[in-house]
Amino acid sequence: MWGGRFAEGPAAIMREINASIPFDKALWRQDVAASKAHVAMLAKQQIVSAQDAKLISEGLDQVAAEYEANGVPENWDLEDIHMTTESRLAELIGPGAGRLHTARSRNDQVATDFKLWVREACLSADAALRALQVALVTRAGEHAGSILPGFTHLQTAQPVTLGHHLMAYYEMLQRDRSRFIDAHHRANQCPLGAAALAGTGFPIDREMTAIALGFAMPTANSLDSVSDRDFALDYLQAAAQCALHLSRLAEEFIIWASQPFGFVTLPDSLSTGSSIMPQKKNPDAAELVRGHSGRIIGALTSLMITMKGLPLAYSKDMQDDKPPVFEAAGLLTLSLAAMTGMVAGATFRTTRMRAAAELGYATATDLADWLVREAGIPFREAHHITGAAVKLAEQKGVALDQLTIKDFTLIDPRIDERVYGALSVESSVAARASYGGTAPDQVKARVAEARVALGLE
Ligand code: ARG
Repeated sequence: MWGGRFAEGPAAIMREINASIPFDKALWRQDVAASKAHVAMLAKQQIVSAQDAKLISEGLDQVAAEYEANGVPENWDLEDIHMTTESRLAELIGPGAGRLHTARSRNDQVATDFKLWVREACLSADAALRALQVALVTRAGEHAGSILPGFTHLQTAQPVTLGHHLMAYYEMLQRDRSRFIDAHHRANQCPLGAAALAGTGFPIDREMTAIALGFAMPTANSLDSVSDRDFALDYLQAAAQCALHLSRLAEEFIIWASQPFGFVTLPDSLSTGSSIMPQKKNPDAAELVRGHSGRIIGALTSLMITMKGLPLAYSKDMQDDKPPVFEAAGLLTLSLAAMTGMVAGATFRTTRMRAAAELGYATATDLADWLVREAGIPFREAHHITGAAVKLAEQKGVALDQLTIKDFTLIDPRIDERVYGALSVESSVAARASYGGTAPDQVKARVAEARVALGLE
């Protein structure tokens, strides 16, 4: 492809280190689409003849059909998907194939192909996130009133509803979706026609190719066009944040599925057994989602470090942009599918959850709030009185609502019988009816809104 200037061919190690075809063959659809848009533009601008353009375009269709049927051949001598396709095109239609590369370079070509690929990955992440949100709102609707302990520091804090807990993840995923859509939107300018780095002397129509490929407009600076990989980093940042959310959700399921908790039974279809301990059912899928998040975050780090020292414009380091993005996208797709199956298929053990919520004096705050509301006591003093009640309950080995009224009045004479109404876990969650709070009515309202936002109603 550059034989004219060289006396010797590349060493074996050069061919091997140079080859990107083993991974960039994933770009073949985008490469064919961009080449077809390019040659149609060359013909319209009379840079190539209509006859040549037709031959090239039909030849590209045939190459695509071969790839579809047999996969993309991997020949290191051809380095990458761009050369592989062009070389096959030349075999099929002869030397006229060489006109396709007029007024472009592999630098704008690879930027265009990769941007097209990343744009699609943003949309498929959005769709997969939506599917997980649908599973979450469905289960949240079923469990708007199911009570479990809410934690801070993983210590029992206050009772919450399971629907509320699941809807917390709905909100995180909603922000993740907006990051992917934002990344997709920002990648709306087409680099094709920037050529090697400086633009071209041919009278090309960049608007035409941009629109044909689904972009809003061409990029405005040729140097930036061939050296920009922000779009891939935007995608990876969204992916890393999303993976981090999925890892936290996976961790909840891992904890909830452990025997001392026993809050959830995971679907058999997403668990594995042990080869030595017959009783075991392990949450491997959740653990791998947690593990994969590390690799996805690693992909972001990898590409940031690849890019950080590169002067304008293209440098070959940038060929290393693709493996981390492809790996992250594959892992994210798997992780989203696994978590969707887990949320949809989990059996929540609501009796155990409720019993756990009764332990650990989860309604102590309700007692303090009651003292403020009903006895007019300042919150700090109410906090102190409640601390004494918890201490006594602990000494007697009972729950707060099992203290007698005599116990309570000895602690503070302003407490009366009505206090018991505030001490059950049901009254505790029902009381937290502030906007966005855990009360079942609040959860139902948020679920209803989310179902509308998801287009389910
Ligand atoms: N295989 C290359 C890549 O993925 C294509 C661009 C090559 N450009 C060049 N000037 N050598 O980055």
